[in-house]
Amino acid sequence: MTEPLDLFSTPDADADVPDAAPDLATLRERAAGCTACELYEGTTGTVFGTGPATARMMFVGEQPGDQEDRALEPFVGPAGRLFDGALVEAGIAREDAYVTNAVKHFSFRRQGNRRIHQTPKAGHVRACRPWLDGELALVRPHVLVTLGATAGKALLGSSFRITAERGQPRPWQDTTLVPTIHPSAILRADPDRGQDAEEMRAGFVEDLRQAAELLS
Ligand code: URA
Repeated sequence: MTEPLDLFSTPDADADVPDAAPDLATLRERAAGCTACELYEGTTGTVFGTGPATARMMFVGEQPGDQEDRALEPFVGPAGRLFDGALVEAGIAREDAYVTNAVKHFSFRRQGNRRIHQTPKAGHVRACRPWLDGELALVRPHVLVTLGATAGKALLGSSFRITAERGQPRPWQDTTLVPTIHPSAILRADPDRGQDAEEMRAGFVEDLRQAAELLS
């Protein structure tokens, strides 16, 4: 279940495409040494996906944040805690799901001692794509949930629009893809821009419930 290779269309990109890995542990080990883009510089390491290879549901976020980079695990910081709560409400056991990101190194700028999140660029998503494709090929999820615009665009293309398309399941390769918002968007909800965090959270849980129903 590999996406058409338009994302690998830069002249030297084939050099970065790894051979198919036999299992997630091997893929994880290979990804740990990834230097395909500059994001590895100044980070703790590659934050590879977590969860069983037998997972029927896969979640794809944007990129690890500061806490994820320190722990080398996806979704363990503030967005992860919100995500965990929403999963419980939607009746999804996180340990049964596979959770990963479109970009596997933390993209940030320094502000004093702090590392401030920076949205990864299309080139970072492209450079990281072989790892995501490897995870998809090994897990072969029945339902794939993209969290936020970066993950949605990574899999559905740059014309993907989160506001218009979230919560609308669609066939994608051998799976059903459900795009939804990123939990960080709820944490950043700005009432001055008409955003209500409670409402956003309820919509997020509803999208997750819908994804869970696709498994039954
Ligand atoms: N945001 C993401 O997209 N992924 C993480 O792992 C953490 C925060």
